[in-house]
Amino acid sequence: MERKRVGVLTGGGDCAGLNSAIKWVVKTALDDRLQRVRKIQYEVIGIHDGWRGLVQPEGDEDLPAPRIEPLTEEMVRTWDRYGGTNLGTSRTNPYDPKKNRSKVVLENIERYHLDFLVAIGGEDTLGVGHKLFLEGVKLVGIPKTIDKDLSGTDYTLGFETAVNVITEEIDRLRTTAGSHRRIFVVETMGRHAGWLALEGGESSGAYIILIPEYDFSMDRINTLVSEGRKKGTRYDIVVVAEGAKPTGSSEIFKEEGIDSFGHKALGGVGEFLAREISQSTKIETRSISLSHLQRGGTPCAYDRRMGRYFGIAAVDLIVKEDFGKMVSYRNGQITSVPLQEAIGRLNLVNVRTQYDTERYNGRRTILGS
Ligand code: F6P
Repeated sequence: MERKRVGVLTGGGDCAGLNSAIKWVVKTALDDRLQRVRKIQYEVIGIHDGWRGLVQPEGDEDLPAPRIEPLTEEMVRTWDRYGGTNLGTSRTNPYDPKKNRSKVVLENIERYHLDFLVAIGGEDTLGVGHKLFLEGVKLVGIPKTIDKDLSGTDYTLGFETAVNVITEEIDRLRTTAGSHRRIFVVETMGRHAGWLALEGGESSGAYIILIPEYDFSMDRINTLVSEGRKKGTRYDIVVVAEGAKPTGSSEIFKEEGIDSFGHKALGGVGEFLAREISQSTKIETRSISLSHLQRGGTPCAYDRRMGRYFGIAAVDLIVKEDFGKMVSYRNGQITSVPLQEAIGRLNLVNVRTQYDTERYNGRRTILGS
C-alpha cells in the first residue's frame, strides 16, 4: 500500500480549539476505512512550534530536537479537552524580509518526507502557507484566531471560548463594580478587529462597547456615562477593543517592539479611557486588561466541535488533492476557500449593520431597515 506523510503545525497566538483540530486531523487521516477505500496509508507528523519547527536545522541553537513526532490516535485521544496547543507555536516568519529562511523550510519538508502539510493559523501562518503553496508545497489551512479577522470564513477557532472568558470575567466584575458604584473599563484583544469586544460586550450586556472600526469621542462617552447615572445606574461596564482609538488619535501600543510579521503589540487604551472618564465625570473608574486570559482555559463545546469539523475537512481536502485551500465555515456549512481569499484582507465589523454609532454599542435593530 502507498504510504503518505501529513505534517501538521499550529502557528501564531495559541487559542482554544487547536488541540481538537489536531486530534481530528490525526483520527481522520489514520481511519482504516480511508486506507481501505483509497489504498493509501497516511501517517501524521506533528511539527513542533509552528514554522519555527521547520526553519532550523536539527541540533541548532535553543530549540531542542526533535522538532517533529509521529502522532497516533492513542496520543491525541483526549487532546480536544485542553486549551493551547500541544504541538507548541511560534510567531516565526520564514519569509521575514530581514532574514528569509523559506528555502530551509522547503528543504526540511523534503528531509522529513512530508508529502502534505496542514497549517492551523491566522493570517500570518496561513500567509506563509499560501507562499509555500505557490512554491509547490501541497498544503491546506485551518482558520484559528480569537480575533475572528480572517476573511473567507464566518468562524475561526478560539473565538467562542474567548467570548465566554470575556463574559465570565465581566460577570465577576459586575458585583464588585456595583458594590462600589464604580465604572470598569475592560480591554479585550482583537488587534484591528472589533469582534471580540463587540460580541463579548453584547454577551455580557456592557453599557458601552468601543471597537477599532469606529473611532470614539471622549465627550460622547462621558455624556453616555452621565446619562446612565441620571437614570439611576449604580455602575457601568465599558468594553474597549485594544485597537480602538479616539477620533483624531492613533492606536495605543505597548512599549515592546515589532514581531517578524511586522505587528506592533497593542495595549493600554483601557487605562487611558479609565483615566479620562474619571477625570471628566469624577466617577471612580478602574480598568482591567483581559489580555491572554482570553486565549486560555478549557475549550468551549463549540470550539471542540468546530475543531473536529475543520480537522476532518482538512483531511478531506488532502484526500481530494485540493491544495492551496483553507477549510471554512460559511452560511452554516463547512466548506473551503482558496487561501488567497482568506488572507487578502481582514474581516472587520461592518459598522453600518452591526454597530450603534450613537449609543456606542451593538445594533438595536436587526430586522429593521
Ligand atoms: O492575534 C491574536 C492575539 O491574541 C491578538 O488579539 C493580540 O493583539 C496578539 O495576539 C497578542 O500577541 P502575543 O501573544 O504575541 O502577545
